[in-house]
Amino acid sequence: MSKGKDILGTDGQRCAKKRARGCYFTAGLANPFALLPFKLWAKRAGLSQMRLLEPFAGRGDILHKLASVGLLSKSVKAYDLTPAARFIKKRDTLRNFPKGFDVCVTNPPWLARNSATMRGLSFQYGCVHDDLYKHALELCLLHCGYVAALLPESFIRSFTRFPLFYQRCEAFVSLTGDLFCDTDHPVGLAMFVPTLSSDVRLYRNNDCLGWYNSLRDCIPVANRQKKMRFNDPNGALGLFALDNTKRASIRFCSAREVADYNIGVSSRAITIIDSDFSITNKFISKVNKELENFREKTHDVFLTAYRGLRSDGMYRRRLDWTQAKNIIEMV
Ligand SMILES: C[S@@+](CC[C@H](N)C(=O)[O-])C[C@H]1O[C@@H](n2cnc3c(N)ncnc32)[C@H](O)[C@@H]1O
Repeated sequence: MSKGKDILGTDGQRCAKKRARGCYFTAGLANPFALLPFKLWAKRAGLSQMRLLEPFAGRGDILHKLASVGLLSKSVKAYDLTPAARFIKKRDTLRNFPKGFDVCVTNPPWLARNSATMRGLSFQYGCVHDDLYKHALELCLLHCGYVAALLPESFIRSFTRFPLFYQRCEAFVSLTGDLFCDTDHPVGLAMFVPTLSSDVRLYRNNDCLGWYNSLRDCIPVANRQKKMRFNDPNGALGLFALDNTKRASIRFCSAREVADYNIGVSSRAITIIDSDFSITNKFISKVNKELENFREKTHDVFLTAYRGLRSDGMYRRRLDWTQAKNIIEMV
């Protein structure tokens, strides 16, 4: 085998192993634990006095980041299936979760079930969720009162389905800093408490965006009486459904404007919508106004984020067909 092929093979294997174990270290320049919402949670948890657990510690980057802002407890234990530092103990914490800790701060392994199936990776541990991080988070919450976890930013849109996650979540921070060196997956920091909380405070980095329930009230909902078909070349309404790399650019337009794009049946970024009502320029401006309102009021937290930041420092967002339908129906 040539050297190039050998290197590619080794990298490929390393990459597959990394993916299988959800092994991305929190080694970027940004420190989410220096943010105000984390400091407030840490104070409430009495973090520096408590028994702290990092159950998926990797190389210990999270503990180093906590230490750098003076928030590392005196009593700390760190574990990993494949420890990458001497002070971390080898343990399969998904099978045998450590007990007797008050606080857990971690970034658990992330592995989506569909991505594991597609790549032939094993999806084990009796996980009933669509992603391994949810299984890991469930274990953390079952065994520790206070939990802070770095999770995919999409967690905020799915967590109402899981009472355990929602009821104990006190705050969620959408993070746009440089968290990881080897992935630019959109990420958030969820903070949980032992008691039930009636609402969740949302932040973007240090900025408070509001309460989850009030923001959710600003999502357009409609009674779905109009017929609409997406990705239908006979339609009169166009939609650029994905932000460009520079700014928030999702917008409705006339179908003529998008006619030159190749829109297939499964197109998700640009579409033509056919409907049984007439599309005028006035209607298009109105739906765009409604879209703008929705984005402004909800700070985009309910729109799917894409990898990589726009040049204005925010995540690229996508409007899905249900959200687009609701906005159109509102108008
Ligand atoms: C996303 S990485 C995060 C590492 C570290 N928490 C950080 O933020 O830098 C997830 C870690 O979980 C570990 N891991 C995966 N499956 C595990 C298991 N069953 N038991 C313990 N650790 C596991 C991986 O080895 C990896 O180091």
